[in-house]
Amino acid sequence: MYIDTHCHIFNEYYDNIDNVILKCIENKVCRIIVSGFDINSNKEVLKLIDKYDIVYGTIGFHPTELDNFQDNYYSFLEEHINDKKIVGIGEIGLDYHYENTDKEKQKEVFKRQLELAERYNKPVVIHTRDSINDTYNILKDYNLNGSIHCFSGSLEMAKEFIKLGYKIGIGGVSTYKNAKNIKEVIKNIDLSYILLETDSPYLAPEPYRGKINGPQNIPLIAENISELKNVTIQEVMRVSTSNAEAIFDFLDK
Ligand code: NI
Repeated sequence: MYIDTHCHIFNEYYDNIDNVILKCIENKVCRIIVSGFDINSNKEVLKLIDKYDIVYGTIGFHPTELDNFQDNYYSFLEEHINDKKIVGIGEIGLDYHYENTDKEKQKEVFKRQLELAERYNKPVVIHTRDSINDTYNILKDYNLNGSIHCFSGSLEMAKEFIKLGYKIGIGGVSTYKNAKNIKEVIKNIDLSYILLETDSPYLAPEPYRGKINGPQNIPLIAENISELKNVTIQEVMRVSTSNAEAIFDFLDK
């Protein structure tokens, strides 16, 4: 059994979510974590975890989605943080990619969500783009664990996050020819620190690069990791699943 530790299976991206779920099960992807990023997607997470056995959720506010952020969103998170099948807070973090980024606002909302996660003892799913040092410097002040999702930093930074207690989220980018950095990271960190994720609908692995991604593509990512690390794909499946289970509390209710 595989676990997709990070995806966004929402109605705005897929015509038929029932089909997405069926394809997952056919490909042995038997648990998927759908991450919210704004108020509407977080509410959709709550519906999806009710509707589909294999769907678990994280709720959180993404750094590029803060334009209409309201203070009462923290109460929303707090109200649902202990819901059945909500396994963490995310997708949260820092993203300095775009011009006119309000870095202070991003840091404030990020920290408030980390405080909540710490208070309720929940893991976090971290987004960081063009902001890895600030992300690290904030995370080191909290006693948390979770996933550095779609990791794109150096081997050295991967090791620093691992020291803090985080695991490294590996997705479709690692299958791209030009992705030298992440291939180096995969080769040089122990399999016990790797989580599989698709970030669907984005970042489809080869040979589907550019197409709409789905959690059913997890085995392609596992296969690529097995080649890079020279272990069997069964080993990648077994260890990555147990890594995910060590971070996220999947209650079999
Ligand atoms: Ni994402």
